[in-house]
Amino acid sequence: MRFHVLTLFPQMIEQGLSESITGRALKQNIISLNTVNIRDFAHNKHNKVDDYTYGGGAGMLMQAEPVYQAVRSVMSQINKCNQVHSGDNSEKNIADENTSYKNTAEEIKNHNARLIYVTPQGSVFNQQMAAEFAKCDDLIFLCGHYEGIDERVLEETVTDYVSIGDYVLTGGELPSMVMIDAISRLVPGVLHNDISAETESFHGNLLEYPQYSRPVEWHDKKVPEVLMSGNQKKIDAWRLEKSIERTKERRPDLYAGFKRLDKCREFLMKNKLLHIDMIELINRGCAEILFE
Ligand code: ADE
Repeated sequence: MRFHVLTLFPQMIEQGLSESITGRALKQNIISLNTVNIRDFAHNKHNKVDDYTYGGGAGMLMQAEPVYQAVRSVMSQINKCNQVHSGDNSEKNIADENTSYKNTAEEIKNHNARLIYVTPQGSVFNQQMAAEFAKCDDLIFLCGHYEGIDERVLEETVTDYVSIGDYVLTGGELPSMVMIDAISRLVPGVLHNDISAETESFHGNLLEYPQYSRPVEWHDKKVPEVLMSGNQKKIDAWRLEKSIERTKERRPDLYAGFKRLDKCREFLMKNKLLHIDMIELINRGCAEILFE
């Protein structure tokens, strides 16, 4: 997975992701990070990238051209990288050279890549989106500042508008880091224990069950007996029960989704042999109800 971040503050991104699990994955080349300073593409005396908005109003807007040139520079890197990986004369590359795209966004999608504009006006990021993005070869994050970015370059380049929640931050750097962190941990090899990415909170619409470590007793509180019983079936049943309880209490919205899927499972179980593939998807937390 190759991450590219277009920003006015590249150091913020580099420093933020250089520690802990993402830092280790970067060092091991399981993921890569390419920060691009949009200011490097402002060809004027003071490297200015913003200007007043037409129609008046407070604040400045990031201009289209430096953003566009920054995107194009990433696209030429991606093209070069893909050529190195598949050999210069591969049929795909020759075909790609001759393809005329409607716009850069279409070109990006055709390269199994996405350009994500982080904005409070986007769809709210969640675990499913993280899983979808984790399937891409390249993800380009565009971080806005000031009052936003000229609409024309967004229309030309953006494939996804994504927010991290219903509140407004001063820029797109922190949301980009949040998303890169969530996506990275789904890239094979980033978490050493691959199972943990599957069983943690939000997998299958349920929050994670409570966990305990040594000592057996702490502040008069004991570890639940069942967890020390050695009976894995009972432990799994207890964990599922706690997950359901916790989700119902803390996240009624997620619980409603879980109940709907559970109803589906019950229905499908009436003919288990015929529906085993769908039941399996529900059990693995990969199913979504599209139509009821
Ligand atoms: N930029 C400013 N606020 C944001 C948010 N909540 N999500 C994504 N990008 C943002």
